[in-house]
Amino acid sequence: MIIFGASGDLTRRKLMPALYHLAVGRLLDDGLAILGVARESMTDEQYRELMRAELVKSDGLESIDEDAWTWLAGRMWYATADFADPGTLPAIAAKLVAIEGSRSGEANHLFYLAIPPSVFPATVTNLAASALMKRTASSSERPWSRIVVEKPFGRSLESALELNALLLDRVGEHQVYRIDHYLGKEAVQNILVFRFANSIFEPLWNRQYISHVQITAAESIGVETRGKYYEEAGVVRDMFQNHLLQLLALAAMEPPIALEADAVRDEKVKVLRSIRPLVGSDGEAAAVRAQYLAAETGARGYRAEHGVAPESVTPTFAAMRIAIDNWRWKGVPFFLRSGKRMKERKSEIVVQFKSPPHMIFGGEPAGHVPPGLLTMRVQPREGIALRFQVKTPGTVHELTPGFETTPVEMDFCYQDAFGDTPSPAYETLLLDTMLGDATLFTRSDEVEMAWRVMDPLINLWSERPAPDMPTYTAGSWGPREADDLLTRELPGAQWL
Ligand code: BG6
Repeated sequence: MIIFGASGDLTRRKLMPALYHLAVGRLLDDGLAILGVARESMTDEQYRELMRAELVKSDGLESIDEDAWTWLAGRMWYATADFADPGTLPAIAAKLVAIEGSRSGEANHLFYLAIPPSVFPATVTNLAASALMKRTASSSERPWSRIVVEKPFGRSLESALELNALLLDRVGEHQVYRIDHYLGKEAVQNILVFRFANSIFEPLWNRQYISHVQITAAESIGVETRGKYYEEAGVVRDMFQNHLLQLLALAAMEPPIALEADAVRDEKVKVLRSIRPLVGSDGEAAAVRAQYLAAETGARGYRAEHGVAPESVTPTFAAMRIAIDNWRWKGVPFFLRSGKRMKERKSEIVVQFKSPPHMIFGGEPAGHVPPGLLTMRVQPREGIALRFQVKTPGTVHELTPGFETTPVEMDFCYQDAFGDTPSPAYETLLLDTMLGDATLFTRSDEVEMAWRVMDPLINLWSERPAPDMPTYTAGSWGPREADDLLTRELPGAQWL
């Protein structure tokens, strides 16, 4: 495994802890060797020490499993190189030869690009030219060469097309693993199992029984130290083009014919292709953007964050209505929202069922009872809850004849049922790249389709920078305009 960007934030905070936990679980192959590559000058030993110190810091570990760490550190090397400079690649190649020389057989190569988008093209070009990364004809060819690409994958359809062209000119699609870490989350994988390993809900999973679907990815944190990146990205590129559309695709897709990478991805692409253009022929979009303001709690406003322009019009929150024009979903709106500095950290999909066609029980206004809800919680408290009506116990009050009903909830929580908290996404994804299972990674056409969906809205908003963009107080549930978006179409509805 060759990690480019081996001393960067992602490697320290995500990759190394994931590798360490995989080592603790004895899930890594004994033949594994890790070569970290970065510009800083360091010896192998210094690199190991740095990674150990970071592990404790980032993972909040109280104690390190010394056996696992020794196992991992003994398989870790470092090379100083500027990966965007072809002149330094021989140094990497030489180090690889030295590492691999002591082993039998030909090595497989996993190139992990934990690097900024700006150096991505040069790195891929140089890698391919150096013959370190080899094209293989199929996923069964050995030894294999794979390349793992981190988000963001481009910043528009055009740049994503360029990146895909660059990669696929040098390697096959089966060699490319594009990460969307939401797909590695246990509760996200469970959407497939819940929908397709049970026959209870699938017959109801359509426009006949579902009123609408809400997908939320709310964060309580602000932009933290990433103000500079976020200014360029904004919430639509940062969250919607990838994580939210992936959740939508998994919730709305048809059953794949098998749990195989292409079968699953074919169905997801079909959903994305069915999304009605977000910007209508009148040039308007059913979408709201907003920015967070300082709160009395002391939380800073977005414009005062480090690296953010005082006049910035970058949205930190968005809500939108998405229509899926296909047989199953025609007429069922999907409402998506995501924001930083919201009241709670919460990612979930809520399916609201239609009310019974003829209601014989009470409630105000007459015949109204809260609708049935199915909530798939991605985080926190990963699990699934089903809300339905029951008869309120006791005798009927003489002024309100008939039964009274009360909504109650059946709740499945991963932690209660299985004890352990689900394994972090990076461990799952990393292991899959080694095993060669691309089901949880996005294919080129999928990423491109997702940009096709979001680009028009991004462009509309950048053409109309909104100096008077709606705002919301840090620590709230977003602007009033997001509520209006919902109630305009579904009077009385609320974000759930
Ligand atoms: C990343 C975004 O992809 O996802 C971040 O760039 C965001 O801005 C993060 O904070 C959210 O991930 P999670 O797993 O904390 O929901």
